[in-house]
Amino acid sequence: MAFAGLLCMAAFAQAAQVHYTWDLTWAPGSPNGVQRDLIFINGRFPGPPLYADEGDDVIVEVTNHTPFNTTVHFHGIEQRGTPCSDGVPGLTQFPIEPEGKYIYKWRANDYGTYWYHSHDSSLLLDGLYGAIHIRPSPDRENPFSKISSDPDDLKAMKEAEQNPVLVVLSDWDHLTGPEYMQAMEDTGYDIFCSDSILVNGMGSVYCKDPEELTSYQPAQVQEVINATLTDKGCVPFVTSLQGDWEHHPDNVPPGLNSGCEPSEGPKAGFSVDASQKWASFNFISAAGVKALVASIDEHPLYVYEVDGRYIEPQLAHSIEIYNGERYSAMVRLDKEPASYTMRVASTGAQQVISGYGTVTYQGGESNQRESEAYINYGGAPVSDSIKPLDTSNLPPFPPIHPPQRADDFHLLTLGRIGTSWQWTLDGTELFPADLDALYPIIRDPDSLQLADALKIKTINGTWVDLVYQLEIDEPTVVQPPHPMHKHSNKAFIIGRGTGKFQWSDVNEAMRQHPENFFLNNPLYRDTFVTSPAGESWLAIRYQVVNPGPFFLHCHTETHLHGGMGVVLLDGIDVWPEVPEEYLYQ
Ligand SMILES: *[C@@H]1O[C@H](CO)[C@@H](O)[C@H](O)[C@H]1NC(C)=O
Ligand SMILES: *[C@@H]1O[C@H](CO)[C@@H](O)[C@H](O)[C@H]1NC(C)=O
Ligand SMILES: *[C@@H]1O[C@H](CO)[C@@H](O)[C@H](O)[C@H]1NC(C)=O
Repeated sequence: MAFAGLLCMAAFAQAAQVHYTWDLTWAPGSPNGVQRDLIFINGRFPGPPLYADEGDDVIVEVTNHTPFNTTVHFHGIEQRGTPCSDGVPGLTQFPIEPEGKYIYKWRANDYGTYWYHSHDSSLLLDGLYGAIHIRPSPDRENPFSKISSDPDDLKAMKEAEQNPVLVVLSDWDHLTGPEYMQAMEDTGYDIFCSDSILVNGMGSVYCKDPEELTSYQPAQVQEVINATLTDKGCVPFVTSLQGDWEHHPDNVPPGLNSGCEPSEGPKAGFSVDASQKWASFNFISAAGVKALVASIDEHPLYVYEVDGRYIEPQLAHSIEIYNGERYSAMVRLDKEPASYTMRVASTGAQQVISGYGTVTYQGGESNQRESEAYINYGGAPVSDSIKPLDTSNLPPFPPIHPPQRADDFHLLTLGRIGTSWQWTLDGTELFPADLDALYPIIRDPDSLQLADALKIKTINGTWVDLVYQLEIDEPTVVQPPHPMHKHSNKAFIIGRGTGKFQWSDVNEAMRQHPENFFLNNPLYRDTFVTSPAGESWLAIRYQVVNPGPFFLHCHTETHLHGGMGVVLLDGIDVWPEVPEEYLYQ
């Protein structure tokens, strides 16, 4: 154990070091023109971007001047050998109490686009988030030659990649995170309505005619919901989504699901230089409750990196982005110098709402020409020639292959327990929403404070299969897609099917139904979105390489609050000791 403990520190030997000092404050701001208190980091919202080069050692010193406990989680960062810097209270650390400090240390051993956010209660909804970009090392093989073979283009794309346009997308509400969660508890409803979509922390409140908003909803969603949306574009609390559990409609806070009041806030502007030929737009979804669709008018997107990993580039006009996911795209700057609208819409299943930014060519500032949209206010393509990204086909570049068989198998059953808003991932238990009082599992894996059903123990070095089974407890109630996020290393998405997963493990299922599995260069990422509605399953495979307690949870903040998580006690056979410096923080 003592030897393993050294591993927590040994990583910090030779690489360059980047050092950030962050001061968190709680102060009034008006991201969408309406004032409320929110979290700033060094006076900024979203927090400042964190840049590093692949291989750097990163140190982030966080001082919490807010009145709340908090932590910072570095989403998608593997934390190899540094589990104490994963930023989950009750799992890897005690929360940072008001006026407290915590020093996170990790190595940037993966390149690409990531982000950071609070992992304490629902403070993500209060603005504690920001972008991370880790520049790939110069000798890393990239997939740009599959976009263009022109040497000038290749040079321009490599430069664009080193200096990307980081676009943090989020949803925003006038209620604070804790108030939002309280509204679910007080009403019994699963709530997913927002006031604005923000682009880099800027947006407005748009109010529209309910009939018009309803017309933007995808037809198959309209069919299930069969009701007119509210003036905020939100779905009324219908039985097909909320079920027959106990509800208290009188407790819905005014303005939360309906009662739109328009307001104009700032708008994100991105200046591009056509002489550079290409720009890289790296989209990050920091949304708490919404699945989003992003596009830039008249500019096709060559998507080349997903969740911090190169893929075979895919050409698309719009990208559907779930909570926590990242998509980076090369954009050719060959249009008339003018301004082009960046559109970010909710997918329309939960709410019809959009946010906007502006991409302006240098020298085109005074051009009044209106750009032409690829998607409408509901995120749908405006014509058949508009191609949304096919997110089921994102082969990693260069190809990587998981082994044919895994060593271990766990079946997770997803569903509600007892109310519309409480969700289970293991099928029997709710993960506690408040982790502050939990003695960090990293110090006591046998802690009785957390039910055994919520802990999955794995052996270091083994390959593990996790199957998410979507259970339909009440045939009339629809389950939304769940963006499942795994902390630490990425996983392969190796299989999908409808109905019940009725085999003893994936190996047996594969023998009987090879058509449901794909091991040839499958998707490799840190978020796995389950199918909407219907009984179905999704299989992922990963190797245990990083001993420590890592969270696996739905990244819809309301579902996480409602209990949808388990903890992977990865490599429990060789767990590290907590370095002394963290024992007193
Ligand atoms: C949709 O709602 C209307 C009235 O609100 C009702 O008459 C109709 O039967 C419903 N359709 C379905 C398919 O449930
Ligand atoms: C903050 O965290 C401490 C544990 O470090 C806990 O005892 C306390 O109850 C938490 N405070 C709140 C307001 O949750
Ligand atoms: C855990 O397993 C990985 C992969 O096999 C290995 O690289 C690592 O050294 C192991 N860690 C410990 C502490 O044994």
